[in-house]
Amino acid sequence: MVKDTLHIGGKSLISLAEKYGTPLFVYDVEKIRNNARAFVQTFKEQDVNFQVAYASKAFSSIAMLQVAKQEELSLDVVSEGELYTAIEAGYPADKIHLHGNNKSISELEMAIDYNVGCIVIDNFYEIELLNAILKEKNETVNALIRITPGIEAHTHEYILTGQEDSKFGFDLLSGQADQAVSEVLNNERIHLQGVHSHIGSQIFETTGFEMTVQALYKALAQWKEKFEFEAEVINLGGGFGIKYTQEDEPLPLQNYVTALVDSVKQAANEHGLSMPEIWIEPGRSIVGDAGVTIYEVGSIKDIPGVRKYVSVDGGMTDNIRPALYQAEYEAELLNKIDEPKEETVSIAGKCCETGDMLIWDIEVPTIESGDYLAVFSTGAYGYSMASNYNRFPKAAVVFVENGEDRLVIKRERYQDLTRFDLSYE
Ligand code: LLP
Repeated sequence: MVKDTLHIGGKSLISLAEKYGTPLFVYDVEKIRNNARAFVQTFKEQDVNFQVAYASKAFSSIAMLQVAKQEELSLDVVSEGELYTAIEAGYPADKIHLHGNNKSISELEMAIDYNVGCIVIDNFYEIELLNAILKEKNETVNALIRITPGIEAHTHEYILTGQEDSKFGFDLLSGQADQAVSEVLNNERIHLQGVHSHIGSQIFETTGFEMTVQALYKALAQWKEKFEFEAEVINLGGGFGIKYTQEDEPLPLQNYVTALVDSVKQAANEHGLSMPEIWIEPGRSIVGDAGVTIYEVGSIKDIPGVRKYVSVDGGMTDNIRPALYQAEYEAELLNKIDEPKEETVSIAGKCCETGDMLIWDIEVPTIESGDYLAVFSTGAYGYSMASNYNRFPKAAVVFVENGEDRLVIKRERYQDLTRFDLSYE
């Protein structure tokens, strides 16, 4: 008899693996809602105007965006594809913000045609493109200017975006931000609502955000003098850290909000500026810990005295984070949840690539082919960064809420893999 003790939203994970096959992403929708509400509620208690925009790059699908919409979140999209998904999900366009460091003409046109809430301007070329498109269409648009404030967040190097040496945004220190503000203010078709800054991802402390607010306010005070410009909006991006392993000690989501609000209040007060709306863009902290991936264990290779490799039926094609960022995860054998952990193994993916490892050195009960392995906190940047490397079909995604499971992304079939291939015979 299979022991069956791990549940999500009232459904046993084993029963879901049996019903939908593996690898399988399972999301606890109540958890997604609670994460969203933790941000929204805290803002409400702070008595400030705010927007919580879900950063859809973390996990975008029609069902996911419908949940975000139900929770009345705004939405951050970074491409025409993410924008298209949002429109398909019935997202109100005025709640959508468009990001990107190389927005194409067609992306900008689509955003303007749909009348999105705001465009976060990243660079001088974009100002030019936007000006030309708005002129041609005789339209106007709301915008924020993305600033790189020169603050380093303590996180993995590859996901730092706030430092000066960054492909994103206008640099404060070199004066490029001044020039951008002046150009945009002089453009009668672009309404400059304020500034945006995103300093990194998986951040466990509030200091970086507080320093960012101070840096932004130093600039805002100057822009008030120079251009008589006052920001209506300060968008402080996302990056709030979540727990992947026991070593991770994230703050409660509420603490990030109170720290941001306090530091904006203080800085606005200090510089004699009026209180703006505060926007944030959490991605990982909305969906990360709400997702689990279930795999089936296949081959096991024991190199005595060296390592036991346990291969599962997915890997870097559904979770590239360990290979790309040396990200760490925890996992359990679902069918052996109460058994003592007696061996140390390493979990390998199925791709023809040495780096396709999911977890190094994890303690598990005696492991056998056919066991179900659940890897936790895979809800962010798992499915969204999935690929068809080695022509593996993408996994299915299931949402569970109130004891009911719903397939929200179908498992790809082999026909899907060759769908766009054309014959050369
Ligand atoms: N806003 C902006 C402008 C961003 O660039 C990002 C993430 C977010 C918000 C959301 O950040 P979050 O709250 O999810 O940390 N693929 C990497 C993460 C890349 C994040 C890129 N930007 C990973 O798997 O860790």
